Formats: sequence, structure tokens, C-alpha cells
Amino acid sequence: MAISNNYDVIILGAGGAGLMCALTAGQRGRRVLVIDHATGPGKKILISGGGRCNFTNVNATTVHAQERYLSANSHFSKSALGRYTPQDFIELVRSYGIAFHEKTLGQLFCDGSARQIVEMLMEECDRSQTLGGRVDFAFNSPVGEISHDGSVYHVMYNGLRASAASLVIATGGPSIPKMGATAFAYDLGRQFGLKIIEPRPALVPLTLGGDDVLFRELSGVSAEVVAQHGKTAFREAALFTHRGLSGPAVLQISSYWRPGDRVGIDFLPDHDAPAWLLSEKRARPKATIKSTLDRVLSARLAEALADKLALHGNLADQSDVKLAEAGALLDCWPFVPNGSEGYAKAEVTLGGISTDGLSQQTMEAKKMPGLFCIGEAVDVTGWLGGYNFQWAWASGVAAGEAV
Ligand code: FDA
Repeated sequence: MAISNNYDVIILGAGGAGLMCALTAGQRGRRVLVIDHATGPGKKILISGGGRCNFTNVNATTVHAQERYLSANSHFSKSALGRYTPQDFIELVRSYGIAFHEKTLGQLFCDGSARQIVEMLMEECDRSQTLGGRVDFAFNSPVGEISHDGSVYHVMYNGLRASAASLVIATGGPSIPKMGATAFAYDLGRQFGLKIIEPRPALVPLTLGGDDVLFRELSGVSAEVVAQHGKTAFREAALFTHRGLSGPAVLQISSYWRPGDRVGIDFLPDHDAPAWLLSEKRARPKATIKSTLDRVLSARLAEALADKLALHGNLADQSDVKLAEAGALLDCWPFVPNGSEGYAKAEVTLGGISTDGLSQQTMEAKKMPGLFCIGEAVDVTGWLGGYNFQWAWASGVAAGEAV
């Protein structure tokens, strides 16, 4: 018989959500055990934001939640986001003297290193002891059998057994398996009767095949564009890669894209391209389409697009109709990606544990008292730019206050 350790709360997963839940519960005087199969805490935090952790976005608020968090229930995230705001996390960061800056579009990054965020969260877990609680960690600990006896959850790990009235699933989604990411949360959710919204990779580069494959010649070229899918559009940088398209604008639109869908790229976001080409024809009739595009785009991109438009001669040689057609293409160049780079390169996972079965105030399963689901494991996925960490913090706090 394994030795049994009794806790108030067992948290599976020491990522952003699990750590935030642990420190919140610990500081409320709870005895908490965090179990993770990784060698240490916050592995994704450490590599996030190119090592500087884009730890929140000032716009990750209830006002924008419906638009900027994708979920089968677009209202679900509002309660937690409303109670633990970007400002709350900023105050915590400030209280540790961690310097940060806004890069763009409300995205806040550490000036120094993402490690400072992990150290801050671990120190806050330690601080529980001064407040009557305790947070213990078990790393290098694959989780074994989990059971519920009607009032208490039992978790096997490392040949030990831990028991607690509250069990928190914070094991994230399957994005970046080589970092230890797994679909464990979904299996466990199913075990306890929770529905799973089909997961798929998101914030992920898209791959090009067919005729679009020619664009791979542009590998390494980036440009500010508007990437569009249906009515959704993002104006940011796009990057051509040796397999397809990446860059923030494309990563954002990938969360809306489904196999077979078209993605439109506006290569001239500051121009109404048909009108602009016609006015260029009047102003510089001897210019070619390439030299015209050269004035507003990088040389390689201008050349590639001019080749594909195949308008021979100078602007004066083109009919207005032809130029308007070329302009329309430049305003919304249609790509039909043949796939994505998948979980290996996806920053997050869409879908996951359905919010239907969870309380939006506490993240507790409605039909399994004491079972909580937080962070990326849940069917709530934010835009690029700090939205996903804010969801991890906010959902972690919501559960941490209830366990
Ligand atoms: P997270 O995945 O962080 O943690 C889950 C934990 O559970 C891990 O520690 C894992 O080891 C553990 N685990 C998994 N399966 C287990 C099992 N079977 N047994 C035991 N333990 C298990 N977001 C953002 O807002 N700003 C940013 O700058 C970035 N940057 C970024 C870069 C890259 C490369 C990636 C991949 C992702 C980002 N993100 C991001 C997204 C962000 O990292 C993500 O949304 C959060 O880390 C999710 O936090 P969670 O705690 O829910 O899961």
C-alpha cells in the first residue's frame, strides 16, 4: 500500500495556470500539492515571447473577451477575466521590481527574462507559508491512476498516493509535444464525464502547396499585410517561410482557418490598390508594374508579385480594367493553405474541455464537485500577444479562490 499524503488541493500541471492557482490557494491557507512530469515549473513561460514572456495584454479585458477569446461559449471567459485583470498581474510584476515594456498592440514583455516571471510565481507560492498555507511540488512525476471516492480525489504519482477534496486539471493542451505537452487533460476530463470540444492547433504557421508553392521562393521575406479570413482581419507582419506563411498576421488568422478555407492577404494595406494603380498609370505611364510595386514593397516581394501578375510592358500599356483586376488581387491575394505546421509548431490549442460543464465563476465541474479545469486545457483560446497568459492567470485565480 502506497504512503498516502493528504492535502486540501492537488493541482496537475505547474504551468502558468497551475502556479497561479497554487499561489492563490496557498495564500488562502490551503495545503496544496502541484504534480508535473517536467523537471521544473513554467517551461512554456520560460520560452515564451522569445525568452522575454509576453505576460499579458492590456486589452485582455471583459470588453474585448468575446472577440479576442475563441470558445464555443464566447462569454465564458468574462467572469474570470473581469475579476483578475491585466492590471492585477501588472501590479504583481511591479511589486517584484520586474522591468517591462509595451512592444505593440498592448503586448507587455519583460525587459529582462521570462525566468523572472517563473521566479516571481514560485516565490508567491513560498509566501503561502507565512499565511498559514503551503505549496509542495512534485516534479519529474508522471501522473498515474486517478480516482474519486465520492468525497475525495486520489492521485498516484511516483509510487505515492496523494488525496484531496479538490483536484485541479491544469495540464494545458498538446501544443509543442517535445516540451512535454500532452492531451492528458482531455483523457482525464472524459474520465469524469466532461465533454471535449475537438482540439486543433492554433496560432500556427500555414503551409502552401499547389500553385502557391511558388511563394516559397520568398522564404525569409516579411511585409506588413492584412491577413483575412471571412470577416476577420489582422494587420500585422506576415513572413514567407520555406514551407508556407507565418508571422503574427498569419498566426492570428490560423486560429480561424479550417482545412480547405481560403486566406486573403492584402499586400498593400495602406492603399486602395485598384484606385492607386490607376492613379499611378496617370502619374507615371512609363513605369512598369514591378517598378511601381517597388516603391511600396520590398524588392523581392515586388518582383514576385509582378511576375505573378504577368502584366507585360509599362503601365500605359495596360487597360484600366486589367489594372483594376491586378489591384483587386493585391488587395486580397487568395491563398488556400494545404495544411498547418500542426501541434509541433502551434503556440496554443483551440478546443479542449467544454465550458458547458464548468462554472464560469470558479472553473469547477458542475457535476463533479471538487474537480476544477483551468488554463489552456479548457476550450478558451486567446489571440496572440499575451491573451493566453492572461487567461491562464485569471482562470488560475478563479479556481484558486474556490478550491
Ligand atoms: P502549460 O502548457 O503552460 O502547462 C501545463 C503543465 O502541465 C506543463 O508544465 C506540463 O509539463 C504539465 N503536464 C502536461 N501533461 C502532463 C501529464 N500527463 N502529467 C503531468 N504533468 C503534465 N502566451 C502568451 O500569452 N504570451 C506569450 O508570449 C506566449 N508565447 C508562447 C510561445 C510558445 C513557443 C508557446 C508554445 C506558447 C506561447 N504562449 C504564449 C501560450 C502560453 O504558453 C500558453 O497559453 C500557457 O502556457 C498555458 O498555460 P497552462 O498552465 O494552461 O498550460
